[in-house]
Amino acid sequence: MPIHYNSSSRTFHLQSTGTSYAMQIIKTGVLTHLYWGSKVRGTALDKLFQTMERASFSPNPFPEDRSISFDTLPQEYPAYGTSDFRHPAYQVQLANGSTVTELLYRTHRIYAGKPRLEGLPGTYTESEDEADTLEIELADETAGLKVILIYTAFRDYDAITRSVRFENEGGQPLRLLRALSASVDFPHRSFEVLNLYGSWSRERWIERRPLTSGMYSIGSSRGSSSHHQNPFLALLSPGADEDCGEVYGINLVYSGNFAAHAESDQFHTSRLSIGLNPFDFSWLLEPGESFQTPEAVMVHSAEGIGGMSRKFHSLYRKRLCRGLYRDEPRPILVNNWEATYFDFNADKIESIARAGKELGIELFVLDDGWFGKRDNDDRSLGDWFVDRNKLPNGLEDLVQRIRSFDMQFGLWFEPEMVSPNSDLYRANPDWCLHVPNRRRTEGRKQLILDYSRSDVREAVYKMITDILRSAPITYVKWDMNRNMTEVGSAALPAERQRETAHRYMLGLYELLERITGEFPHVLFESCSGGGGRFDPGMLYYMPQIWTSDDTDAVERLKIQYGTSIVYPITTMGAHVSAVPNHQVHRTTSLEMRGHVAMSGNFGYELDLTKFTEEEKAIVKGQVAEYKSLRKLIQFGDQYRLLSPFEGNETAWMVVAGDKGEAVVAWFRVLAIAHQPLCHLRLKGLDPNRDYVLEATGDVYGGDELMNAGINLWPPHRDFQSLLWRFSARD
Ligand code: DGJ
Repeated sequence: MPIHYNSSSRTFHLQSTGTSYAMQIIKTGVLTHLYWGSKVRGTALDKLFQTMERASFSPNPFPEDRSISFDTLPQEYPAYGTSDFRHPAYQVQLANGSTVTELLYRTHRIYAGKPRLEGLPGTYTESEDEADTLEIELADETAGLKVILIYTAFRDYDAITRSVRFENEGGQPLRLLRALSASVDFPHRSFEVLNLYGSWSRERWIERRPLTSGMYSIGSSRGSSSHHQNPFLALLSPGADEDCGEVYGINLVYSGNFAAHAESDQFHTSRLSIGLNPFDFSWLLEPGESFQTPEAVMVHSAEGIGGMSRKFHSLYRKRLCRGLYRDEPRPILVNNWEATYFDFNADKIESIARAGKELGIELFVLDDGWFGKRDNDDRSLGDWFVDRNKLPNGLEDLVQRIRSFDMQFGLWFEPEMVSPNSDLYRANPDWCLHVPNRRRTEGRKQLILDYSRSDVREAVYKMITDILRSAPITYVKWDMNRNMTEVGSAALPAERQRETAHRYMLGLYELLERITGEFPHVLFESCSGGGGRFDPGMLYYMPQIWTSDDTDAVERLKIQYGTSIVYPITTMGAHVSAVPNHQVHRTTSLEMRGHVAMSGNFGYELDLTKFTEEEKAIVKGQVAEYKSLRKLIQFGDQYRLLSPFEGNETAWMVVAGDKGEAVVAWFRVLAIAHQPLCHLRLKGLDPNRDYVLEATGDVYGGDELMNAGINLWPPHRDFQSLLWRFSARD
């Protein structure tokens, strides 16, 4: 059993493959945190409990024991108001207006398997023996508040998940003001903090800084997890790198407003926490009602950042992503967005698809502009009916034409939006998020549909599924192109208005569950102006995400490298686009664009009919090469070799689970006069096997490749890249 309870020391010990996590009940039922880190046997975990005699200005909740203050105790789920002055994990307002609560242990249960969180995405098990779950029931009897801390330890994945359920078991209403999913205290602050920040078109850049006194906080109040901060934070031992050092990563399975904090206090201890953003959030709990927080995934690695990433990757590939495409190679696609934008007709689309077929591409995706009167981005969202001006014979005819030459067909939607200039909005002006008597701020000339309302969701469900049923569509791109303003719902009473943003997410998840469940053969790709909702919540419903609207190969190095800190390659959409690039106007080589895009779910996003014969030959080669490598790339283990944040060269590699083959991708942005030697040391291979470099036929020892390395001989030009395949020679 990965979870043990020692009744004499009243300690809980959770163990996943390489990790231990421990807590202890002390005194009248206070739950303290003992340990999170490398797996230990758990002989003397209770000895970690430590009190601090007479900490001045840290009051003592137990009058007879001046050694205890919650201000100095490592807390498992900290409260404010009873002597802990650090950041609390939760706050509840009682009917009398007070916000002081104190949770004490009541009971617990340990059981095999992992429960689904009602209405929320989360990691899962396929059989009960894959994990154990611990539910610790805490209560504040005065408030009538029950809080259940839920932990799961996986047996074959090195991760622990946490979430919290609040229940009002009293007779008075309660109001949740803050309800984080996880909070962990550490006995020191010898850490650096790593987070993934950015903007539209520049997502998930890596940033790290020392943890110093006070608080480092990130979050989103945009109504989506956002381009700007990813719902992920890690504490690293100082100087930890890709391969060495301790790393504690925490990631929220949620796609809306979140907050994450790293705090260091007067005693040089630290606290890491993550959950729903308390800013502008509150939730009314009437007697008998309950509230479930999203899930936090916690990964510890003693093998540096790379070790942490691979633990997240394998869990997410196998026990977060779902459906047919979890284990299926993803099709190579061509998308018409950067090829045509809104300016296309059926013949143009067919010609791009035909050109794709000739190059070996498997799926054509029709992007924005096929519905309503959508000749521009200022209209028609919500009018999900085919534009007969562009497609005079309808969608079915176009799909059949494309399918007739054995190509799959995919379609773009932006189902959460409505244009004020649309029939849907004219008929239902209160269906969008809005606040009475206030301006409705537009973004890209659009408003956001109020997904907290079931009538709105039902109407969208009908329109989208009517289209999906009308033709053999095997792929959907689900886009979302603005952040929330005037967040209010016409369907909620005054006292529940601040629930709107979270209710929106619950409504979105419900609709996604319904639609993806009804169309299991469809590959869904999530998108939010590129990677504005690149989070585990979305991956639960849609196993791949359009990584960024920036398709420039050089820019993509940082974006894809940063994304890979948490998310596996198989979740990242990556396309070759035209040069000069539409976002940064840079001209890179077709080879490099191909190699960058092949480091993800591969595709093209340009007018294929404009290729020269020479370009066609290169692209045919890329498509064939990706087909032969895609199982390895999509389902192997990724090792990062050189960081684009640190220099002119970037490299990563993917190794098959059985270490029988590997593919290495190397990139150099600019040529340098009197070029220094290019040399790469590989990782993750079997040191005792020999590997053939297929490009040359040369044989190398796995031990040599990893320790002595390999020399590269790129041409002396800008924008160079290599994609090298190694096969074990057994
Ligand atoms: C934003 C997406 O990220 C793009 O790929 C494209 O689908 C546009 N929306 C279409 O409006």
